[in-house]
Amino acid sequence: HTSWKPEKPGEKVYLRRHTGNFHEVSLVRPEDVEPGGFETVFPFRESERDDEHALVAALKRADAPVMLIRMRPNQAITKRAGQEDFNHGDLYAYSKICTHLGCPTSLFEQQTGLLLCPCHQSQFDVFEYAKPRFGPATRPLPQLPITVDEEGYLVARSDFIEAVGPAFWERKS
Ligand code: FES
Repeated sequence: HTSWKPEKPGEKVYLRRHTGNFHEVSLVRPEDVEPGGFETVFPFRESERDDEHALVAALKRADAPVMLIRMRPNQAITKRAGQEDFNHGDLYAYSKICTHLGCPTSLFEQQTGLLLCPCHQSQFDVFEYAKPRFGPATRPLPQLPITVDEEGYLVARSDFIEAVGPAFWERKS
């Protein structure tokens, strides 16, 4: 599993939008996501920013896609007991990779706060730390702690708080 811990002090891990052009580095600011909206983003290291091959590889990492969700101002989130805040304001970043068998979750219903996985219909409740509500998945989608840098771009603060994807991914690595 790819680690997003900074390799040296101060190293940034940016979040990048996939624009269809693999070589374009499109960073995300909080205001780019509408309240109630979401965007799929891909973390990459600052050291990969000017390296085309590394950037394309970053987009293709199976465990990398992140669902960046912006709650509406009146939508309260219940965090897990004892957990710190990993969000930036009303922005929350969760692994897009289903914890059942690793399909990408693909639909966010903003009314119910449910993230849906199309493969076997697992549903994750974003209002409650993305814990599974329905279907075969048994673990929440891991959250990626985020903040903004001095230029106003969203960056990861550290690694996902738990292992990404199904349990058998971990055993392989
Ligand atoms: Fe998502 Fe099975 S892989 S429900």
